[in-house]
Amino acid sequence: MNIQSKTVTEILVLLVVVLSGTTILTLSVATTNLTIPVIISGAALVVAMIAAVSIMGPSVTGAPWVPTSRKLVTKVLEMAKLKPNELLYDLGSGDGRIVITAARDFGVRTVGIEIDPFRALYSRLKISQLHLKDKARIVRGSFYKIDLRNADVVILYLEQQTNNRLRSKLERELTKPDCRVVSVIFEFEGWQVINQDAEELIHVYKLPSDTKTV
Ligand SMILES: C[S@@+](CC[C@H](N)C(=O)[O-])C[C@H]1O[C@@H](n2cnc3c(N)ncnc32)[C@H](O)[C@@H]1O
Repeated sequence: MNIQSKTVTEILVLLVVVLSGTTILTLSVATTNLTIPVIISGAALVVAMIAAVSIMGPSVTGAPWVPTSRKLVTKVLEMAKLKPNELLYDLGSGDGRIVITAARDFGVRTVGIEIDPFRALYSRLKISQLHLKDKARIVRGSFYKIDLRNADVVILYLEQQTNNRLRSKLERELTKPDCRVVSVIFEFEGWQVINQDAEELIHVYKLPSDTKTV
């Protein structure tokens, strides 16, 4: 299934959920003596459950949504030393700010991988609105399952245990010459560091490493 049809599917699923909810509520009101406060509480519970899944799910699978500040986005991308036509991945792309800025201001091709369907949908709409569809796209899914072998640059702002879990995948798949991994805050111990901002905690690594590490 391509990205466009995935987006359409997600919009349809959302519509079905909203329409079913509305229908159930209307039928409940028509057939029972539900009071307004009970209906409002029910609706609030449904909204809270959707929000909880959206917030808690990614924390379990990799990292919660904490966006990189706008100022740091530019800094991270400058430190990656992007070249024209390179392909950049953002693992856990959130609202798409890194893939959008990289495609719009640095002219590279970008892919964001995001597990949260709402943020994936939001960033796809933003990419569409900014006419960046030929340069930037969002894959809705888990970064553990996406093949990264065509990446030149991989950006991560996740958690230390998620970096540790991704380590062997990145070592196995990032084999193009001059691949860079930029990790915000969290590190990859033992990898070759080629650029670093000790204050903002941005680490740029080269893979495959020029030197063998033990
Ligand atoms: C700390 S936020 C970083 C967002 C964005 N990269 C930025 O810098 O603004 C981490 C993101 O990773 C997403 N995430 C967590 N686990 C994931 C997984 N297994 N696959 C894809 N995305 C995931 C979360 O939903 C969240 O949006």
